[in-house]
Amino acid sequence: MKLVHFSTLSSTNTYLKQHAAEYPTGTVVIADVQTEGRGRLGRSWQMPGGNLCFSVLFADQSGDWSLYPLCCAVAAAEVLEETMGESIGIKWPNDLILKGKKLCGILCEAVPSANDTRIICGIGVNVSLEQADFDRMELPYATSVKLATGRVFNDEERLSLAKKIAARLIETVDNWKTNGFSALKPRYDARLLNQNREVRVLYQNRTIEAVARGINEQGYLVCEANGSRFTVHSGEASVRGLYGYV
Ligand code: BTN
Repeated sequence: MKLVHFSTLSSTNTYLKQHAAEYPTGTVVIADVQTEGRGRLGRSWQMPGGNLCFSVLFADQSGDWSLYPLCCAVAAAEVLEETMGESIGIKWPNDLILKGKKLCGILCEAVPSANDTRIICGIGVNVSLEQADFDRMELPYATSVKLATGRVFNDEERLSLAKKIAARLIETVDNWKTNGFSALKPRYDARLLNQNREVRVLYQNRTIEAVARGINEQGYLVCEANGSRFTVHSGEASVRGLYGYV
């Protein structure tokens, strides 16, 4: 694993998108501070120092990258859970939830090139943000490691956490590529909080109330409403619980 460390970047995803051709698969780009971080569906992701933001690069010849976000969620959830001793769930497609609030966000993006597609997997973990930070950013459903567990990570510990998550992600992608979806699905399902829960799907400017039934082989969310099933794609939809964030 090649690690490239910056004190400040606009966004680790943007950097890797611009420089993908210069680095091999498995490269990890990490920034102490991210000034123009990006989230899913065009949202922003602010990251002052003391948190974790990094991106991992994969060159992929199959062109099908729909399961990378799920690999990220599984890898980050497992490592964070092992490190903190707290149970971490997944809100489809890849928000990591600790005690009902969002601890970690994931943004995967693809850069097509002549021979393959380069996938950039960006992971942001709220490590030391305080309640006042979330209040100021108007994020009532966000939490951090410090806020939820009282635990403080120094620079070295944060770097080691990023390396562990990146290594688990590389291993998880490898396992999925070698052994197929069935190698990934049980690990994802075991943490999926939306399963059989009532959800509000925000999709193409429409809101649909449905029951989430799980994921299909592309990682889409299978939902049921009025007796019929439909699937939603993570690039287009966001899902909220009917009675809370999840
Ligand atoms: C979301 O929940 O909306 C996704 C947030 C993803 C944030 C990470 S931080 C590292 C990487 N660089 C970015 O600009 N975004 C991702």
